[in-house]
Amino acid sequence: MAYSNKVIDHYENPRNVGTLDKEDDTVGTGLVGAPACGDVMRLQLKVNPETNVIEDAKFKTFGCGSAIASSSLATEWVKGKTVDEAMSLKNTEIVKELNLPPVKIHCSVLAEDAIKSAIEDYRRKQAAKKAEQK
Ligand code: FES
Ligand code: FES
Repeated sequence: MAYSNKVIDHYENPRNVGTLDKEDDTVGTGLVGAPACGDVMRLQLKVNPETNVIEDAKFKTFGCGSAIASSSLATEWVKGKTVDEAMSLKNTEIVKELNLPPVKIHCSVLAEDAIKSAIEDYRRKQAAKKAEQK
C-alpha cells in the first residue's frame, strides 16, 4: 500500500518522540491499544495547571507507520492548546491531513484516544491533588 507523502514525512521524522515524567502531577499519560491490530500507543501531555495550556507532548508508538504519523501530528497539534481544545481533536482531522486510506483509519483513532486518555489522566491527578489540599 502506498503511503501519502505526509505520512512518510511524519514516519521518517516523527516529532515529539519520547517520554515525560509519569510521576509529575502536571503530566497526563494515555496508553491505548488498537484491538484491530494489537498496536500500542503511549502519549503524554505536560499541562500548565494555572492556564490548562498543554506545554509539551511526547509519544511512543509501537505500531505501524500510520499510527506513528498520526501520533506525531497529534502531538504537534495539541501543543499550545488548552486541554478543552485538545479534547475536541477528531481523528477525522488526522485522516484528512494525512490522507489515510480506510484500512488505516483506526490508527488515527488510536491517536485521538491516546490524547483523550492522557487528558483524563491529567485531570484525575489534578482532582486528587485538590482533594488532598482540602
Ligand atoms: Fe500493527 Fe500496523 S498492523 S503495525
Ligand atoms: Fe493498527 Fe496502524 S495502528 S495498522
